Amino acid sequence: MSQPIKISVAKGDGIGPEIMDAVLSVFNAAQVPLEYEFIDMGKTFFEQGFGTGMTPAAKESVEHNGILFKGPMETPKGKGMKSINVTARKTWSTYANRRHFQSLPGVDTVFSRAGIPVDITIVRENIEGTYGGIEHLNTHDVAICRRIITRPGSEQVIRFAFEMARKEGFTKVTCAHKANIMKITDGMFLETFQRVATEYPEIQSNDIIVDDLAMKLVARPQEFQVVVLTNLQGDIMSDLCAGLVGGLGFAPSANVGDNISIFEAVHGTAPDITGKGVANPTSLLLSGLMMLRYLGFVKHAANIENALRYTLEQGVHTGDFGDRTIPSVGTTAFADAIIANLGKQPQFSKPREAVEGVSIFKKPQAPAGQKMMVSADTTEKKIIGVDVFIESALNGEELANLIGPVVPSSLKLTMISNRGTMVWPTGSVFTECVNHYRVRVEGETNPREIFAFLANLSDHLYVPSYEVLRQYGDKPGFSLAQGQ
Ligand code: NAI
Repeated sequence: MSQPIKISVAKGDGIGPEIMDAVLSVFNAAQVPLEYEFIDMGKTFFEQGFGTGMTPAAKESVEHNGILFKGPMETPKGKGMKSINVTARKTWSTYANRRHFQSLPGVDTVFSRAGIPVDITIVRENIEGTYGGIEHLNTHDVAICRRIITRPGSEQVIRFAFEMARKEGFTKVTCAHKANIMKITDGMFLETFQRVATEYPEIQSNDIIVDDLAMKLVARPQEFQVVVLTNLQGDIMSDLCAGLVGGLGFAPSANVGDNISIFEAVHGTAPDITGKGVANPTSLLLSGLMMLRYLGFVKHAANIENALRYTLEQGVHTGDFGDRTIPSVGTTAFADAIIANLGKQPQFSKPREAVEGVSIFKKPQAPAGQKMMVSADTTEKKIIGVDVFIESALNGEELANLIGPVVPSSLKLTMISNRGTMVWPTGSVFTECVNHYRVRVEGETNPREIFAFLANLSDHLYVPSYEVLRQYGDKPGFSLAQGQ
């Protein structure tokens, strides 16, 4: 008999308590050795004045237990509150979002009808990318979002994907990206993937442009096993995969970090059906099974999954899916049917192997301080100019005439672009502009000279931001403008 493990459980808002109670009733019936510490997290706690949506005791519980099993939660809208889900994932550095999309019996999809089984695991970077939440309104007309891709952050999630593949017997890992367009950011993600892949020679690795991935997932999903992506691209592709297997109601999710991991359903609080007792608990149950496997309770997870598959094969379903000619059941009756089928094997889908597992979970040791992740770097660096962003409704030529005299003699105004397209020294009359330009000034320089230039320029124009142009070895650390 395995030692019980204590986990933090937050039932969540809306249908959260209904589906969590259903899932825990299945866990209890299957004698899963877990001890539950119920914690206060969600909408009510925002309303009670806890700015992060959780009480200090809830935070302490998660940081002590290292595992949070949560129902969906609502963040009050329009009150400047940050999403509780995103905050939890980011604060606790759960850098890998693992989602599993598999065909389930009784869940009718285009692929199930064609006899093509879908079994895809998406590993999405969970902290950075466009989800860094760094946005600015540079002019009345122009909003900017910084998309941050880091070498250590990419390495963490890519290594997680390969380690998972190695431990769980996947034979292929694919990196999806847009490095053909975003050469520096996605280029870094791809380069990291290719470097890490060399450490896992037994696993086949390849890469694919993300739009091509979207098409191939819909046309030939059986070609993919594990796909690793940056944050926003991973978010979008995950929902596409959910569509392949019958919707978000069947898509479990794990947010895994080195210390703390969060297991949750991917759907929301479903306010339209809250309190009616009709919600489908499958997504949360499947998330719970990912948690059990993570904790090493592989046998319990296999038994429950087999009972779930058997139940689905019998045509038992909640109102949101399944054979409409068979009456649907409510949340509790669905869970009771699974409980009644514990020990049974599914007949038409491959049963999970029931083997004793090894826990890969380590109870968190509170780190002494925030971890700094810096990769080895011996490249020679020099500053070779600056891109200045300015607000102006002048045209490129007028702007160059205004800025030219302010540029220090050691530097040269080389290019002006608008929305990434060059408009000076050459450009097209067909280019449509907004009142936000990037002005590129080049020449070997230093931060002091750049600041002096910006100060002088600010006497003439509003400067909302700038980026230093740096050379790394023989590689420029900046992109060219379209048309440059
Ligand atoms: P939603 O996923 O709650 O609902 C979309 C549709 O799917 C609704 O028609 C709903 O009835 C149905 N649905 C969702 N889960 C279901 C289930 N288990 N069984 C049967 N039907 C189900 O998405 P929506 O309406 O956009 O968001 C509602 C709230 O949930 C928002 O406050 C949102 O911020 C929050 N949310 C929370 C998430 C989380 O905690 N991880 C994730 C997504 C949304």
